Amino acid sequence: MTQQPLLTLQNVSKVFGPVTVINDVTVSVYPGRVQVLLGENGAGKSTLIKMMAGVYQPDSGHIVVDGKTVTLPNTRAAEAVGIATIHQELNLVPTMSIAENVMLGRMPTRHGLVDRRALRQQARAALALIGLDIDVDVLVGDLGIARQQLVEIAKALSINARILILDEPTAALTRHETENLFAVMADLRQRGVGMLFISHHLDEIAEVGDTVTVLRDGEFIGEVPASTSEDELVKLMVGRGIEDQFPRLSENLGQAAEVLTVDNLTSAGSFRDISFTIKAGEVLGIAGLVGAGRTELIRAIAGADRYTSGTVAVRGQILPKGSIKAAIAAGIGHVPEDRKGQGLVLDASVNNNLGYATLASTAKLGMVDFAGQRSRASAVAKRLRIRMHTIDQPIGALSGGNQQKAVFGRWIIAASTVLLLDEPTRGVDVGAKVEIYELMNTITAAGGAILMVSSELPEILGMSDRILVMRDGRLAGELSSAEATQDAVMTLAARDVDETHEQR
Ligand SMILES: Nc1ncnc2c1ncn2[C@@H]1O[C@H](COP(=O)(O)OP(=O)(O)OP(=O)(O)O)[C@@H](O)[C@H]1O
Ligand SMILES: [Mg+2]
Repeated sequence: MTQQPLLTLQNVSKVFGPVTVINDVTVSVYPGRVQVLLGENGAGKSTLIKMMAGVYQPDSGHIVVDGKTVTLPNTRAAEAVGIATIHQELNLVPTMSIAENVMLGRMPTRHGLVDRRALRQQARAALALIGLDIDVDVLVGDLGIARQQLVEIAKALSINARILILDEPTAALTRHETENLFAVMADLRQRGVGMLFISHHLDEIAEVGDTVTVLRDGEFIGEVPASTSEDELVKLMVGRGIEDQFPRLSENLGQAAEVLTVDNLTSAGSFRDISFTIKAGEVLGIAGLVGAGRTELIRAIAGADRYTSGTVAVRGQILPKGSIKAAIAAGIGHVPEDRKGQGLVLDASVNNNLGYATLASTAKLGMVDFAGQRSRASAVAKRLRIRMHTIDQPIGALSGGNQQKAVFGRWIIAASTVLLLDEPTRGVDVGAKVEIYELMNTITAAGGAILMVSSELPEILGMSDRILVMRDGRLAGELSSAEATQDAVMTLAARDVDETHEQR
């Protein structure tokens, strides 16, 4: 192509302390084209785009905008040359309204005061760009993570960028919301906006991309057309093929004991009359549309929220309502859907984040067992192949997918025998997904029980022994793994045919 790129990172490198995270990588963004960045968790994708966004400075190489070498000392400088970035971890202020978040840093004023009316109007216009019609006075903290992601996207779009960088924008979106976003991207492409897109959903690459840049361990591996087959893309990014995407080894449950018993659980406004049991060795999947009450149900069982009536029992012992401590003591581990908000303390070390659930319970004679904790954490980090420099690094410095593995690792260390997984592989690369599935096998082979909520239907179908479908806060039906097909699940999940596309 002879067209001049809008933006080029030319032979850039980035070093953190002793670690080279990006080594001599070149990538360009062209007008009206979507460049895809592909690589495993920790490959360096977010680090690379942060150099375009003015967050990090390259240690060598240079940045070229419209044919001229520039420096981007901060995010304002990047925005000034037309670069807008949607970061992987959301940057919204939970205690501020949607309108204030969208217009943050450029509030309309009148007589020196914030013009609330103009603020609302401009925020509404920004949200309309992605077809989102919600009350802009609602606090961002009260929104689900998918909605928060959409607010972040609207905010970036409203800056009128020529170059739009999207770091895993679809990770928390439903299929329907993803399609809305892709329609917006198609429109921007028409208008000559150049985009850089990151996703672990390989099927999205051919759908929106033009060209794919593949990174492995911070190195440039190659550039291929977005139409390249998924198998081929996996080989490029992982360095080997992946035989079996869903390696579920089902246990023989014949005589197995009931581990988790949920009886008539009801939480006013969220879910009603939910009853089921999970046996030792079993993976129970819960499918349903966003808003069906799945996350609320999992949180209630985990002790994170109180409920109105009904009981939760582990091996016959009824748990007190709303006590995370009691749930952990009973062997429950909870991998929440929002790792940043509910799972991790970003400033604390990997070691401490991994030990969070266990330090108290493994104390010897009232003394916290730091050394034991450290060696257990190191072993689990190794087993999960968490990419980090040292275990004392703040967990916030790990790549997104590696943070997700750490949330999982916490419960491995705690030897949880009842795992509650809410979207367990969100943001996790294809290779690491298989590692997580194999861990699920290990846990069930040892007699553990797993409850998994996921919006990825292939994952639910591929990894569950039995599937419950929720609709509008109630159980709509149950399917054995033999009966379960995409269609069977969707028929139970959908309120009406029009909404079936909500499910990925
Ligand atoms: N501020 C930092 N300090 C130290 N190391 C860092 C920092 N930021 C990133 N890293 C390291 O750089 C490597 C690349 O991280 P990066 O976030 O770019 O990966 P990624 O490709 O975006 O992965 P993911 O798919 O999980 O989001 C990781 O090993 C990470 O731990
Ligand atoms: Mg990333």
